Amino acid sequence: MKTLFTVREMQAACRSLRQTGSLGLAPTMGALHDGHLSLVRRAAAENDAVAVSIFVNPTQFAPGEDYDAYPRRLAEDGAKLEAEGVDLLFTPSVEEMYPSGATTFVEVAGLGDRLDGASRPGHFRGVATVVAKLFHIVHPDRAYFGQKDAAQVAVLRAMVRDLLFPLQLVVCPIVREPSGLAMSSRNLNLSAAERDRAGALSRALQTAARLVRDGETGAAALRVAMLSQLSNEDGVVRLDYAEVVHPETLLPVADTRQGALLAVAAWVGQTRLIDNLLVEALPAERPQSASLPEQIEAMHV
Ligand code: PAJ
Repeated sequence: MKTLFTVREMQAACRSLRQTGSLGLAPTMGALHDGHLSLVRRAAAENDAVAVSIFVNPTQFAPGEDYDAYPRRLAEDGAKLEAEGVDLLFTPSVEEMYPSGATTFVEVAGLGDRLDGASRPGHFRGVATVVAKLFHIVHPDRAYFGQKDAAQVAVLRAMVRDLLFPLQLVVCPIVREPSGLAMSSRNLNLSAAERDRAGALSRALQTAARLVRDGETGAAALRVAMLSQLSNEDGVVRLDYAEVVHPETLLPVADTRQGALLAVAAWVGQTRLIDNLLVEALPAERPQSASLPEQIEAMHV
């Protein structure tokens, strides 16, 4: 594995790899866990070469958010990627990605202000901008993202479509801890007690999933079920949102009959966590996602 620090070196290394075959890219902010590695493994299975980026992107953190506290584990991450047989690791500095005076940003209007975009103003502008830069540097044939960040997927799909990026965006399923907690680099910032409480997010989704399995399609009933789980907890868990939305537009839907995204976000102590569940369209409608039974099984209902 080659580790590259500058845009110029990375561009040259990617250009040379693309001459001999396809190239997959998995963008990350590091502190890698099995969720990230699932993207890397999928990229390795589907491409001749794999590039991974590790860059804690300052523009996607609002003032007062956890940019400084975000976990950084470069030595361990490098060893994990080496073991996966990754070809290129790109870890640029902030100055390399944002040359002084950089004033150009990518904004996905509408979508970028929904769900996490509503609670984290400017977040998706930062995400779209850095991912566009990475696409320009790497020119991947396929780029790999996790369903864990469902709103991010919707925003990036729209960006790829609108800006005509010549690549395939591949979305990988959520990888969970045995407890059901969705893996996240931010879990490293949880105390043991907070980690227990953090289970409220996946439990809220499991509760809603059981209702769906029993035939409930009304968004209002599903929201109430999720909210009651999240507010069952003591003051350690503070709700940000619990929504039933269209997976592409992220706008609220009245029912799940044509498929829906159940999305939750909450602060556990000082750490903000998110989780979600895709509900498939009813058989008469067009199926949109992995089947609910598979996802429920993955959540150990
Ligand atoms: P980061 O949070 O490091 O996540 C990198 C990628 O791993 C994202 O596509 C995310 O959805 C995926 N991922 C994280 N946890 C996962 C899990 N439990 N299961 C499956 N996939 C998971 O998302 C970002 O970084 C940044 O916003 C980035 C896209 C790199 C832009 O800065």
